[in-house]
Amino acid sequence: MKKVLTITGIILLFACQPPQEPAQGEWIVGTEEEKLEQIEEHFQGFGKAMWEVSYRYKELYTAGKNQNWEYAEHHIEELEEAIELGLERRPKHAKAAEHFLNVAIPDLEKAIQERDSILFFENYEQMRVSCNACHQMRDHGFIQVKTPEFYQSIVE
Ligand code: HEC
Repeated sequence: MKKVLTITGIILLFACQPPQEPAQGEWIVGTEEEKLEQIEEHFQGFGKAMWEVSYRYKELYTAGKNQNWEYAEHHIEELEEAIELGLERRPKHAKAAEHFLNVAIPDLEKAIQERDSILFFENYEQMRVSCNACHQMRDHGFIQVKTPEFYQSIVE
């Protein structure tokens, strides 16, 4: 009996608490739903991932040209991660990214691991084609990425 009373007491204690106001940030404010919407909007969708991917795509090319294999390893890992995070935000693109993630990236990674320049440029070209194939599939066929031959990296 005593136990039942104690439990009832605890339940009542919680039930009588005034409803908790959602925590407010400096500019992320509103109801829980409004705040989540705001945060998601600021994270942005796939376009944001593509900004990062474009930069890494160019740096990767120079890394291969300079045979800076560790730098190339760094960029291919980060590029893959950027695409994967982009797909978490926009899963509708996942199917179209399959070749890119399952073939193009692993093949280029292999060339980097083997420190093989010839294979690197062959597989870099395969990756470029795979970027564009995905753009085609996702109604962005007007974005045709080129080989960044004249890109100047600030890294040796
Ligand atoms: C999942 C398929 C997919 C893959 C793989 C992909 N892209 Fe994209 N890319 C897109 C889509 C979709 C957009 C349009 C995004 C948006 O703005 O909503 C885009 C946009 C872009 C843009 C324009 C970005 C801007 O708004 O300034 C560039 C540049 C780009 N991609 C480069 C690349 C490069 C380089 C690769 C390969 C290393 C690549 N993409 C791989 C789907 C893909």
